[in-house]
Amino acid sequence: MRFEGGRLALQFEEQDNAPPRLTFIGPRFAADGGGFDPPLQPFAGPSLPDAPITASVLPTSGFGYMSEPGLILRRGGKAILVRWAGVETRAEGHALHVQLHDEANAFAVELTWSICPHSGVVQARLTLRNHHAEPLALEWAASVCVALPTWAREIAALPGRWAHEQSFTRFPNPPGQWAQINRTGRTGFSGATFLAMAPGADDAHGNVIGFHLGWSGDHRLQVESQQDGAAIAQMGAYEPGAIVLQAGESWTTPTAYFAFSDCGFNGLSEAFHAFARASFPSHAARTPRRVHFNSWEGVYFDVDEPTLRALADEAAALGAERFVLDDGWFQGRVNDHAGLGDWRADRTRFPDGLSPFIAHVQKLGMEFGLWIEPEMVNPDSDLYRAHPDWVVHVDGAPRPTMRHQLTLDLTRADVRDYLFGAIDALLRAHPIAYLKWDCNRDLFPAPARVTRQTEGFYELWDQVRAAHPAVEIEACASGGARLDFAMLSRADRFWPSDATDAIERLRINRWAGLLFPLERLGTHVGPSPNPITGRRLSMDFRAKVALFGHMGVELDPRRLNEDDRTALQTHIALYKSHRALLHSGTFRAWTSDDGVDARMVIDTAKSEAVALFARAGAAPFATAAPVRIQGLDPGATYRATLLEPWPHRAARRMSTRDQAAWRTGRLVSGAVLINQGVSLPLADPETAWLMRFVRVA
Ligand code: GLA
Repeated sequence: MRFEGGRLALQFEEQDNAPPRLTFIGPRFAADGGGFDPPLQPFAGPSLPDAPITASVLPTSGFGYMSEPGLILRRGGKAILVRWAGVETRAEGHALHVQLHDEANAFAVELTWSICPHSGVVQARLTLRNHHAEPLALEWAASVCVALPTWAREIAALPGRWAHEQSFTRFPNPPGQWAQINRTGRTGFSGATFLAMAPGADDAHGNVIGFHLGWSGDHRLQVESQQDGAAIAQMGAYEPGAIVLQAGESWTTPTAYFAFSDCGFNGLSEAFHAFARASFPSHAARTPRRVHFNSWEGVYFDVDEPTLRALADEAAALGAERFVLDDGWFQGRVNDHAGLGDWRADRTRFPDGLSPFIAHVQKLGMEFGLWIEPEMVNPDSDLYRAHPDWVVHVDGAPRPTMRHQLTLDLTRADVRDYLFGAIDALLRAHPIAYLKWDCNRDLFPAPARVTRQTEGFYELWDQVRAAHPAVEIEACASGGARLDFAMLSRADRFWPSDATDAIERLRINRWAGLLFPLERLGTHVGPSPNPITGRRLSMDFRAKVALFGHMGVELDPRRLNEDDRTALQTHIALYKSHRALLHSGTFRAWTSDDGVDARMVIDTAKSEAVALFARAGAAPFATAAPVRIQGLDPGATYRATLLEPWPHRAARRMSTRDQAAWRTGRLVSGAVLINQGVSLPLADPETAWLMRFVRVA
C-alpha cells in the first residue's frame, strides 16, 4: 500500500495477525525508483528470536519485539499480553485505517494515518475501546510509532525555559533511548517537536523528518535505537494509568504530525506552513494582521484609566491598530499576588468599568483586546474564598503555589461553567475583539488528572470560541509554553516567548517558525534596555526583527525620544505595506557564511520577496561575507532594493554611489544572488537590513 503527498511517499506491507509494517518513508522519487533507505527490515540473526522481529505501526511486546511497545495496557492490575486476532487494513483516499481486535482481552484499536496530498503532512492517532466488563487501564498509547529510515541517525530537539525557548540542539541518536518527557501540565517550554535527520542536514539540505505532537498536556517523545542500529520514533500523551476505560468506553489519543523534507529544515517549514494555513486557518483573524499595542512591558500592573488613555493616544499615533490591555485590570490585581479568578474591572482604577476606556480606544480607530488567565486563581481572591475546593489539590495536603496562584480543576463541569459564564459576560458586555488567554503555572500537586484537565481546558476554550466566533484569541503560557498544533487549531495567534529582546527573538522566532507560520507568531518591539535580558538594542534593530511575525509594540511610548518614535512609526508603516506577502508566502531561514541570520518570505511565483539580514555579534572581518540568497528563481532577474529606514552606523559605511544604487534598486540575476550573494555593511554587531526583491524579467 502506497500513499503520497508533498515530498513524501509512504509504503506499508500488510502482515498476518499484526498491524502493517512501514516499508518505505522518504522522497517520492526514491519510492518510484524502487526505494532505498528503507526503515527497519524484519531482523533475524544469531541470538535473536527465530521468527524475524518486525516493528509494525503499533508494536507490542511479548512475542520477540524487545523495544518499547506502542501500546501498554492493564486490567485488574495485570499487564495485558496483546494478541491480535483480527486485523483489517484499508486504504481510503489518502488515509490508512487499521482495525485491530484482541478478542482474548476484549478490546479493540482503530489506528489512522492520513497524509495531506498537498503538503505531505501526516496526521496519526488511535482510538482504544474496551469491550470487557472490567475496566481497562492505559499505561501508554503512542499516537504514532514510526520505524525510521536508516539515514535518520541524528535527532534535534528544541529545549527551552522561561523567556529562553527554542534552543535548537542536535545530537547523534544515542544508544538505547532518547526521550523527552514533559510533566508540566502544559505543552511546556521545550515544546512537543523533534527532528529525526541525516547527519549534516541543515536549513536547506538533507533528509529530515519533523515530528510534532498536537497536545497541550504531559507528553513523551522518544527515539529508541534497536540492536541493528535502526530506530523507532514514538510520541504520545503521557500519564501512565490515568485513562481507565469502563465497559464500552473509548478514548482517542492526541493527533501526532510528521512531515518529510529532502531539502533541510526549510522544506519542513514549507510543508507544515502549507498544512497549517489550509487545515487550521485562523478562526476569526481579520486580515491583514493588525499591529498590536500591548500594555505589559510598558506599564506592567500600573494600569488605570488616565494612564491607559495616554498610552492609547500614543499607540494610535505610532500606527497601532489594536490596543491589548494586559494583566492588571481586574478586581484587586495590583500585583501578581491577588485577583486571578475575579474577572470584573477593578473599580478603584476603572471607576466606571472598562467601557469608557474601550470607547476611547475605538474612537482612536483601534480595536480593543483584553488579557485573561481563566484557568487560574489566586488564594487572595473572592473566587478562592468562595470555592477553595475548586482548585487542583489533594485533600489535607499543602497547596503549593507558582506565581502565587493555583490551578482550577477543569475536569469539573461546575468550574468550567463558572469560567465560561465569566468570560461570556465580559464579551457580551464589551466590544472586545481580542482575548489574550494566558496560563502562567505548571500543573501540580500530583495527582492532578493532567489528561482530563487538558481535555477540560479544550472544552472551555471551544465553548468560548463557539459562543463568540468573531473574537480572536491568542494563546500564551508564560510566553511559549503552549505552542502546539492542538492550540494552532484553536488560537489565532501565539505569544512565543516573554523575551522581547530582538536577539533572543531571532532564535525563538526562527525555530517557532519551523512549524508555525509567521502570521501566527506575535513579535513585539520591546523596551531598551530589555526588562528580561538587560540588553540595549537600537530601535532600528528591534523594529526590523519584529517585522518578521505578527508585529506589535510593547513598551512605554511616552519614554521614546523623537528619533526612536519616528523610527518605530516608519517600521510600522513598512510592516503594513509588506504584511500581505510576509503572512502568505514561503518562509526561508538560513545563516550566511559568516553568521548573519537571514530570513526571507517569497511568494509562490518567486516574483517578490522580502528578506531580513540581521547580525547579533561582530563578524570576523571588517567586511562581512556576502549573503547568498536562497529560494529565488535562478533564471529570473530581480530588482533588489534596501528598504528604508537604514541602520545609521552601517549605512555610513556605504559609498554615496552604493547608497543611490540600493535606493533605486540593483538589477541582479537570480543565479548571481543565489551563488554569489549580496555584500552589505553587516560586520558590526546588532545590525539589520531589510531587502526587497522584485522580479523584472
Ligand atoms: C505572562 C505573559 C506576559 C504577560 C504577563 C502578565 O508572563 O507571558 O506576556 O501577559 O503574564 O502577568
